[in-house]
Amino acid sequence: MNFKPGLEGVPVTHSSICDIDGLNGKLTYRGYPIEELAAHSTFLETTYLLIWGELPSPQKLRDFEAEVQMHRRVSFRVRDMMKCFPATGHPMDALQSSAASLGLFYSRRAIDNPQYVYDAVVRLIAKIPTMVAAFQLIRKGQDPIQPRDDLAYSANFLYMLTEREQDPLAARIFDRCLILHAEHSLNASTFSARVTASTLTDPYAVIASAVGTLAGPLHGGANEDVIAMLEEIGVPGRASEYLDQAIDKKRKVMGFGHREYRVKDPRASILQELAEELFARFGKDEMYDVATAFEKEAQDRLGPKGIFPNVDFYSGLVYRKLGIPRDLFTPVFAISRVAGWLAHWREQLGANRIFRPSQIYTGEKVREWLPLEDRDAMENV
Ligand code: SDX
Repeated sequence: MNFKPGLEGVPVTHSSICDIDGLNGKLTYRGYPIEELAAHSTFLETTYLLIWGELPSPQKLRDFEAEVQMHRRVSFRVRDMMKCFPATGHPMDALQSSAASLGLFYSRRAIDNPQYVYDAVVRLIAKIPTMVAAFQLIRKGQDPIQPRDDLAYSANFLYMLTEREQDPLAARIFDRCLILHAEHSLNASTFSARVTASTLTDPYAVIASAVGTLAGPLHGGANEDVIAMLEEIGVPGRASEYLDQAIDKKRKVMGFGHREYRVKDPRASILQELAEELFARFGKDEMYDVATAFEKEAQDRLGPKGIFPNVDFYSGLVYRKLGIPRDLFTPVFAISRVAGWLAHWREQLGANRIFRPSQIYTGEKVREWLPLEDRDAMENV
């Protein structure tokens, strides 16, 4: 049997959503290079492209934006439920619970109805940011802030989260971060989404499954750990020593390495540009020099093994400058990746076969039952 741990390199579906050229560091969404989308598109326009396969006409984009805006609010029942969550709980657990709870409000068995599918896409894209922001205020003992219809998608999220209207440049840079994180072919959380979708369950369960997967430190959770690592290094001059210790102890360096890329993740390069644009306007984060010094040191020692910065290495520095708390970095990743997960959900429904891989059994051969009274002799086995 062709055993591949973690399904490394094993194609498990046909997909037309995203293509990654890991050797040359190229990433396209529906054929459009990520650099073009990050420079010229908006997150909602990119969401439309990912889910329906084509850039929207001006009217279709206006309609989609208007629908998302109309569905930003979250039921008081969900908000009240979130008020019962422990304030010390991780926001990714709060998001996974609240995303799954949406399934209680909408019928579950209509995924063959295109209107149901469209409505579910709009609701999830619209409500996930509101739920992330709501938990932030609730855990501070405050009432969540209602969405503002006069603010565009990203500006509204930052307003609900930070309780103040952000500078337009900050909102635009945040929107470009959402574009960069929206989709990345069959990463672990998207694979979770497709496996869950293949059972024909409701889209809210699909998204809850993907959120839980993204939370792991080897996946979306790395962006939080990168900041902790940079703070532990403290100053650029200690980067080399920290890296030596990590390598000696065979510790994984957070924000580095990738199953697909054998060069620097193209998203990391664009996030660096966004960080520098933000710092030029609002002042530099001293951790940036630590990050660039670390990357330089790692070039010689990890580069030959094909280990370079990935999307998580610089994203946290942008979010920190935007006033986003560290434990919300991964929920922000989730806000963006809902677009990719929903695109894969629709694609899976279009040509579905339930995922049920095989295994290589390594357990006991068939053996006789052992009555309880005869097991004392087993005590020291
Ligand atoms: C994301 O899949 C996606 O597309 C994910 C993502 C997306 O957009 O959805 O891009 C988002 O999850 C980015 C990755 C964020 N995670 C981290 O930054 C955590 C640190 N990175 C590693 O855990 C690791 O690089 C992975 C998980 C990202 C990839 O792991 P692989 O492909 O399974 O590689 P591996 O663990 O088999 O390692 C191969 C070799 C090993 O050395 P040897 O035992 O062969 O000597 O490379 C080494 C590893 O020790 N290695 C690292 C390393 N990553 C791999 N060594 C030091 N630091 C690292 N970060």
